[in-house]
Amino acid sequence: MSDTFEIRRAGPEDAPVLAGLRRAWVEEMARQEVDDPGFEERFDEWMRREHEQRVTWLGCVDGEPAGMVNMLVFTRMPKPGRGSSRWGYLANFYVRREHRNGGLGAAMLAELTAHADREDFARVVLSPSDRSVPFYERGGFRAAYDLMIRPQSTGRTQRRHSD
Ligand SMILES: CC(C)(COP(=O)(O)OP(=O)(O)OC[C@H]1O[C@@H](n2cnc3c(N)ncnc32)[C@H](O)[C@@H]1OP(=O)(O)O)[C@@H](O)C(=O)NCCC(=O)NCCS
Repeated sequence: MSDTFEIRRAGPEDAPVLAGLRRAWVEEMARQEVDDPGFEERFDEWMRREHEQRVTWLGCVDGEPAGMVNMLVFTRMPKPGRGSSRWGYLANFYVRREHRNGGLGAAMLAELTAHADREDFARVVLSPSDRSVPFYERGGFRAAYDLMIRPQSTGRTQRRHSD
């Protein structure tokens, strides 16, 4: 890829940009514009609430917002004899379609895992789409067989979640 990209941490002040990426993701999947004028305000409120326990990265290509990912930080219950211990849940990884397969995602994943290593996180967990499994494997993730999940059980149509 000849474009240059940069990755930086994002905060509540970046809510409009992140909301734009979230909207682009949803509209890409829906293959149409989604009429929801209140979305940006809800996103802004969510970001202000969440940023205390989430670390967010924004990826730009030639200065334009092109991708995002965040990690929800889970702080474990303190334990006598052990310092604080945390782990992360990787969520909302998205690179705009026109910028995919150029390495931006891998570079953002490397930033995230470097942060987790620096902060001594016990693990980083995620729920991949089938298509993204090789991508995460290249980033050092492996399938886990030691977790359990209880999906929604109301008989409502199951859909793939997107965190
Ligand atoms: C997953 C994603 C963030 C990777 O970003 P990227 O900049 O394309 O990443 P890179 O260029 O570093 O790596 C390319 C790899 O991404 C994966 N990938 C490419 N397109 C993808 C897509 N539409 N969905 C999921 N993964 C994809 C593939 O593993 C690809 O490598 P491969 O074709 O050799 O297997 C990006 O493809 C994306 O936003 N996909 C749609 C949203 C999504 O699926 N998010 C993850 C949900 S768990």
